[in-house]
Amino acid sequence: MEKPLREAWYAVLWSDDLTRSLHSRVVLNTLILLFRKENGDPAALLDVCPHRCAPLSRGKLKGDEVECGYHGLVFDGNGRCTANPHGGIPKAAQVRRFPVLDRYGVIWIWTGNPHRADPAALPNYSYLNDDNHRTLKDSLNIKASYELVVDNLMDASHAQYVHAGFFKTEAAQNVRQKTWRDKNTIHNHYITPSRSVPPSFAGFLPSEVKVVDYYIEFRWEPPSLLSNTTAVVAAGRPREEAVEKIGTHLVTPETETTCQYFFAHSRTFAQGDATVDRNISNWQRTGFQEQDEPMIEAVQQVRHRFPELTQNPVLLSIDAGPVQVQRVLQELRKLEEA
Ligand code: FES
Ligand SMILES: [Fe+2]
Repeated sequence: MEKPLREAWYAVLWSDDLTRSLHSRVVLNTLILLFRKENGDPAALLDVCPHRCAPLSRGKLKGDEVECGYHGLVFDGNGRCTANPHGGIPKAAQVRRFPVLDRYGVIWIWTGNPHRADPAALPNYSYLNDDNHRTLKDSLNIKASYELVVDNLMDASHAQYVHAGFFKTEAAQNVRQKTWRDKNTIHNHYITPSRSVPPSFAGFLPSEVKVVDYYIEFRWEPPSLLSNTTAVVAAGRPREEAVEKIGTHLVTPETETTCQYFFAHSRTFAQGDATVDRNISNWQRTGFQEQDEPMIEAVQQVRHRFPELTQNPVLLSIDAGPVQVQRVLQELRKLEEA
């Protein structure tokens, strides 16, 4: 597995989960302390006290400051030591601060050089917390490299096998896949013309519509941020008339062999329908946790045990998405290392 990019924004929590307590997360092998200040702004520091390396998350949040739970040094939201109950404040008593953003209902941290943290570089996920969408969010901790989760998402063909109960269809034989790069964004689209209405859209199209064109459109942006729009329209009608839903997949590397996977489902139809909510949550739990996760973790274990077999994998046409993603990552990695 290649090193993840450092000069990047990573999702670290859903905004609703960042409260006035101390939260500890691992991102790129680094312990991160997160908390919300009294004015609601997020703060992110290294979760390590510079005195004896106690995790600051074992301390206390007092106003906008954190008191270390071991010997009481106090740090503000910028990592500056503001009090030492045992004497003067040593110059070295400083904790690394991470640029942090609360945007689109997600807490993001920048793991690279803080001077290069550019909020404008964050892709647009405004649908996640606008009023036009009903969004259901969840997350999983996966015991596999973040790359394996991204590979899985950039290859929708696995749905016919891993998620056969939800998606298996004869119509898969007619899928047309198109993958292309636009700057550093990879688009991976699947179009199935003239097929029956997919079960998840049944009841949300005019009753006379029995045959549809079905679109699945994935977008990947560095480092590991994806969304996929699924759209259905009466066969032959323009794509713009389609009923749509959007999946979001934000994958954050923790260690070489674990990652945090944040996912969401946003829809414009049946917004107040609790049964639809339940069906979607069931799909997310069953599909992602009981079907994707065990397969991805099994692949991780085999790759760990037989690293030599990962060098020259057989490539299939369905791998176009993951291959293009790897190409962009390699280029960006080189720029980081230059
Ligand atoms: S380890 Fe934090 S004050 Fe001693
Ligand atoms: Fe899947």
